[in-house]
Amino acid sequence: MEIVICEDAAEIGRIAASKIIDLVRRKPTAAIGLATGSSPLGIYAELAHAVARGELDMSRAHGFALDEYVGIELEHPQSYYSVIHREVVERLSMDPARVHVPDGRAADLHSACEAYEEAIEQAGGVDLQIVGIGSNGHIGFNEPTSSFGSRTRVKALAPQTRADNARFFDSLDQVPTLCLTQGLGTIMDAREVVLVAQGEHKADAIAAAVEGPMAAVMPASVLQGHRYATVIIDEAAASKLQYTEYYRHAWNTKPERAVSAAV
Ligand code: F6R
Repeated sequence: MEIVICEDAAEIGRIAASKIIDLVRRKPTAAIGLATGSSPLGIYAELAHAVARGELDMSRAHGFALDEYVGIELEHPQSYYSVIHREVVERLSMDPARVHVPDGRAADLHSACEAYEEAIEQAGGVDLQIVGIGSNGHIGFNEPTSSFGSRTRVKALAPQTRADNARFFDSLDQVPTLCLTQGLGTIMDAREVVLVAQGEHKADAIAAAVEGPMAAVMPASVLQGHRYATVIIDEAAASKLQYTEYYRHAWNTKPERAVSAAV
């Protein structure tokens, strides 16, 4: 994994967004895996600026959300359908028909999960998957002990995740208990994965995911086996890593960086 330690959330947003901008310029129909939550908001803000300045056209790109709550109304402001349409589709002028969110209202949730996997396949797979990380190490809603081979499926949210996400709802009781989430195997099929995290409360999970053993109890550690995964974090989230000096050295001396900076 490549580890990039940034000064602040704005720099995280800029570096992660530049990967997406490069990709979509090369491949206008690229499929982007979309995370919700606080962590990717800086990326979407950067992309929105690029679209507003006429430097980026996302209208032919595809989008696939990582997850959705089960049983929540589509119109609920915290359904991931609403969040993705508000934060991503509208701001980036994407084509709503090309942006997909798992159907947490389906009568047959298992078929909805299979249909989601098929939709990803039909789009040619995900080119770049954005992920955040839960304080318990989840990516998507693959809670600790999720199989590294898992596909899109129904999962029970961990108590820690419900407590962390209660800030988006009026009370803990309102946080759904079930979700549909891309599996770890689904995420690992993406051609590139970019994990973003900010804040001290993510430091333990980042240290375990990056430098701990690959283990199902730490779902994000699966990314150690991905051939092209980048972890872009702030100083606080990096504060429990052992090898920060090496990560900074590797980033500062990266040949491709020197090339793109020179262009
Ligand atoms: C959201 C998702 C989750 C979040 C994670 C971090 O689609 O899949 O894994 O990325 O819970 O959430 P924030 O960014 O709000 O701290």
